[in-house]
Amino acid sequence: MSRQPVRPFRSRDWFADPARADMTALYLERFMNYGLTPAELRSGRPIIGIAQTGSDLSPCNRIHLDLARRVRDGIRDAGGIPLEFPVHPIFENCRRPTAALDRNLAYLGLVETLYGYPIDAVVLTTGCDKTTPSGIMAAATVDIPAIVLSGGPMLDGWHEGELVGSGTVIWRSRRKLAAGEIDEEEFLQRATDSAPSAGHCNTMGTASTMNAVAEALGLSLPGCAAIPAPYRERGQFAYETGRRIVDMAYEDLRPSRILTRESFLNAVRVVTAIGGSSNAQPHIQAMAAHAGIEVRPSDWMDYGYDLPLLVDVQPAGRFLGERFHRAGGVPAVMNELLGAGKLDGDCLTVTGRSIAENLAGRGATDREVIRPFDQPLKEQAGFLVLTGNLFDFAIMKTSVISPAFRERYLNVPGRENVFEARAVVFEGSDDYHHRINDPALGIDEGSMLVIRGAGPIGWPGSAEVVNMQPPDHLIQRGILTLPTLGDGRQSGTSDSPSILNASPESAVGGGLSWLQTGDVIRIDLAAGRCDALVEEAEITRRRGGTPPPIAESHTPWEELYREKTGQLGEGGVLDFALKYRGIAARTPRH
Ligand code: FES
Ligand code: MG
Repeated sequence: MSRQPVRPFRSRDWFADPARADMTALYLERFMNYGLTPAELRSGRPIIGIAQTGSDLSPCNRIHLDLARRVRDGIRDAGGIPLEFPVHPIFENCRRPTAALDRNLAYLGLVETLYGYPIDAVVLTTGCDKTTPSGIMAAATVDIPAIVLSGGPMLDGWHEGELVGSGTVIWRSRRKLAAGEIDEEEFLQRATDSAPSAGHCNTMGTASTMNAVAEALGLSLPGCAAIPAPYRERGQFAYETGRRIVDMAYEDLRPSRILTRESFLNAVRVVTAIGGSSNAQPHIQAMAAHAGIEVRPSDWMDYGYDLPLLVDVQPAGRFLGERFHRAGGVPAVMNELLGAGKLDGDCLTVTGRSIAENLAGRGATDREVIRPFDQPLKEQAGFLVLTGNLFDFAIMKTSVISPAFRERYLNVPGRENVFEARAVVFEGSDDYHHRINDPALGIDEGSMLVIRGAGPIGWPGSAEVVNMQPPDHLIQRGILTLPTLGDGRQSGTSDSPSILNASPESAVGGGLSWLQTGDVIRIDLAAGRCDALVEEAEITRRRGGTPPPIAESHTPWEELYREKTGQLGEGGVLDFALKYRGIAARTPRH
């Protein structure tokens, strides 16, 4: 007896609508031109989409061009029919003015594809930063069974006996360059050595963080996130993922059954424990918004902030992806949290089982890399949420606060966790690069570098530029980090304790728009406050003046993006899109 799905596959409406023989013929015929047969497509088996994010323009995800073969094998073996299709490319490092524009664009494209074609369930291939949230956002909107397959990080990078991790090596090397310790050739060599194989960033940057988040949400097979791209297990997981999505199609195991407030809070907790990227904040917010689940700014404090850093991987720690995987990867971290009562083990996952069931027997095997909960690398290592007269919402990644930074700004006897600094304001990153070494700015240890015009509307897209490096003369004196603040983001691979994602941004009239060089900014970490010490009357006077300049739109999408996108505090989502959810329940008309 043939297997029956919990509810009829939507692809039947394309390929077996008894009332529309003409349309069925039309839908079927062109799939024949590469060898499919009408019998296959009309067999009643589920059509499984493989959302292919790999391409020559998306090198971080290029491994998926190969992995898709094993996904197909798994789908076929489990009785499904695979149809692979391209996703709008996203490549973090190379896309100008920023790949942030692409998350929402890939989301829109994927929603249209999943909705408008005969796809019953989908494998989301992920890797580079925004390929994970965009896929999950789309799956949540359409709400067909979906499973995440990470492409995996690159192998560990080595340069002259030293681990060099992607992204992080750039931020560290540019300080060495400014200090005169290396030349440009050495800089390039260190960067290329950090990327020794196929895969995405091997640090705990945004890519590894977001794949860990997908796993924490219950959307990938346990252990999927951290397997390095070239390892044999990667191909094996591709096969198992292909097999599993077919069962999920029959079980009608949709994102709306897996994504809950509890599963998102689990993700918030995991981000702290792994020392994850500050970009997790807008992405988690965005995925939750599209899933119709409330994640509040205070959740980052209430559920994430107090947790410890358990994972010793760059940029917060020392090691890279291979060691993390061999130490047990994301399941081992989640196991620590579960054991400490800091994870909801009841959440359902793509396996059809709960988180707790998935984690049984998945303890850490290398305690140097994944610490026990009660012997962490750092206590209270989550994102600190700040508010004040310069913005309603911003975050600071506390796991990367260095001992030197803590000593200089936060551990001053008599005023612990409070410091004041003189603002030096830059209008976007070109202005920063032109002027940072200008002696007229008088930048010293008491300065705070501020960048505006870098948010979703100002840039547009929001740029990873807040981790501004001090001027060369300070670096040469050993001052490697100044306090920084901005309405943009920063790279997940950065080890800068910036105050970032400030919302509302300057371009929409947020507080940074009236800030001036020379203003004193007071930061009180214990109170979660960041304020410019400027009188109300003076603020009102300045608000009456000319607003800071913003770059003009250069493409149609930039213009549309600016019209429709919200602030980073709310995830930078296309606000109007949030009302479309569960749309697969309504089959598109012929
Ligand atoms: Fe693509 Fe880091 S640049 S994963
Ligand atoms: Mg990035």
